[in-house]
Amino acid sequence: AEAQEAAAGRFPFKPVAAATDHTIHVPEGYSWKPVAKWGQPLFSNVPDLDAAKGVSVENSDKVFGENTDGMELFMVGAHQLIAVNHEYVNPEINLPHADKGNPKTADDVKILQNMQGVTVMEVAEGNEGWEIVLDSPFNRRIHHNTPMKLSGPAAGSELVKTAADPDGIDCLGTFNNCGAGRTPWGTYLTCEENFNGYFGTTDTAFKLPEDYKRYGIVAETRYAYEKFDARFDVAKNPNEPRRAGYVVEIDPSDASSTPIKRTALGRIKHENAAVVIARDGRVVVYMGDDERGEFLYKFVSNGIYVPGGDTSRLLDEGTLYVAKFADDGAGEWVALTPESTGMKIDEICVFTRQAASKVGATTMDRPEWVAINPVAIEAYCALTNNSRRGEVKDGKLRSNAGGDAMAINAANPREKNEYGQIVRWHPENDDHADGKFKWDLFCMAGNPAVHKDAFAGSSNINEGNMFNSPDGMMFDSTGLLWIQTDGEDSNEGNFAGQGNNQMLAGDPATGRIERFLTAPKGSEVTGQTWSGDKRTHFVGIQHPDAPFPDGEGKLPRSAVIAIKRDDNAQIG
Ligand code: FEO
Ligand code: CA
Ligand code: CA
Ligand code: CA
Repeated sequence: AEAQEAAAGRFPFKPVAAATDHTIHVPEGYSWKPVAKWGQPLFSNVPDLDAAKGVSVENSDKVFGENTDGMELFMVGAHQLIAVNHEYVNPEINLPHADKGNPKTADDVKILQNMQGVTVMEVAEGNEGWEIVLDSPFNRRIHHNTPMKLSGPAAGSELVKTAADPDGIDCLGTFNNCGAGRTPWGTYLTCEENFNGYFGTTDTAFKLPEDYKRYGIVAETRYAYEKFDARFDVAKNPNEPRRAGYVVEIDPSDASSTPIKRTALGRIKHENAAVVIARDGRVVVYMGDDERGEFLYKFVSNGIYVPGGDTSRLLDEGTLYVAKFADDGAGEWVALTPESTGMKIDEICVFTRQAASKVGATTMDRPEWVAINPVAIEAYCALTNNSRRGEVKDGKLRSNAGGDAMAINAANPREKNEYGQIVRWHPENDDHADGKFKWDLFCMAGNPAVHKDAFAGSSNINEGNMFNSPDGMMFDSTGLLWIQTDGEDSNEGNFAGQGNNQMLAGDPATGRIERFLTAPKGSEVTGQTWSGDKRTHFVGIQHPDAPFPDGEGKLPRSAVIAIKRDDNAQIG
């Protein structure tokens, strides 16, 4: 009975039912409120979003961007700063004057460029709840034209030099910022995911370089930057896309600081960057590459983290590893080095996917966020889904765009995996820097109302907590795993009964999972962090359908919300 009570104590809320409506549901005794919405001003001389006109080009780098994603809260003295990503834009709603959102001018392109990237904003809790502190000296937008530096082994390489930057050091902008991370020294890590979608060309004579294929860089783009901004025309600047796809370090405490692209952490479609300090003080960063059949990575620094010491080279000097999951539950981190890959070190950092294929890494079902347990030495990765796992076409196993064939393996065990799973690993010797690990599946998502086979999911999935496509994941300070979903919300067929996307809490010790929140229809739940006093859980709602959160007749706006207990108890 005592054990039962302890288990119940891990879930101090009454789980919510699946929902299909246009708002948010949280358990009894909790409430939520928007804090920052797409187009909301960060400065007092800027108006709120005008639904008919959008945001003007002059103001587009002074407002909260679109499609909120990964975030982290930083305490700087008594100031609470949230650094938060804006993954992508919907051109139709940002350019209401343009036909189907197709940019017609360089200013149109600039609006799209400014509405993405990162916001750093000060927030404060007053009588009306949490609000942005307008005009805070910390408030800052980082976007597709913000000056930044390349550092690490690929900085200065021939592969990243351009006419505008013959040294291969000074680049502009961060792209498709998806998940995030933080360092113990107080910096924010923003992760460039589907960067391929911004670079293209109208020059039909231009032959795309061979390495573009593995990253999905093609001539035609949705955003049409290349028509109005020559930097994005790959016929003119073929190295420009090789300057994106990195983890970017930002100092949120200094609005004039220059973001740094850490090429030692590899160039992939980065989901997030989960940082932990190894037993000997080296810095370990776990990273997923979110594409069907791509891999899970780990960086280990050469240097040791010393609080208050010099941290400027820790993410530049070290070794990048890729994961091999053996079917017997063992695992190995294989170093990507000139010896193991036959590639030069700058090539490994720029063509990381190709390097990882050379050492026989395990193809995964789209690695999304990695989360590190703060109270046990283990890490978790959400493998969101992979509809092509095990699929055979023309007598051959499917692969993704020049990637490896996606055979079934024990960590990715289901063909045409629409539901996803969460894998976890325990490093050997209780040391995240160790080269070996043991792994198991924390859960396999599924639908036990529709299926009786492997697609019913693992034993900790039931009709009351079922979901599909785990994506965002983070542990709170008590060791509870918060799982966010980005999946199919039709509530039909294989997804009947699962409702809208959601956020759930999981207990690593027991495997128990309970649903905490349901999101508005059409949206995904992504990004989370906690206030300094742990009495507020900030959560991101991305790409809602109409009308959220402003109500009937208003535009849908992606938003960061604040969730609190009505008794103001700690919730994280
Ligand atoms: Fe932007 Fe893989 O999610
Ligand atoms: Ca994601
Ligand atoms: Ca996703
Ligand atoms: Ca998304």
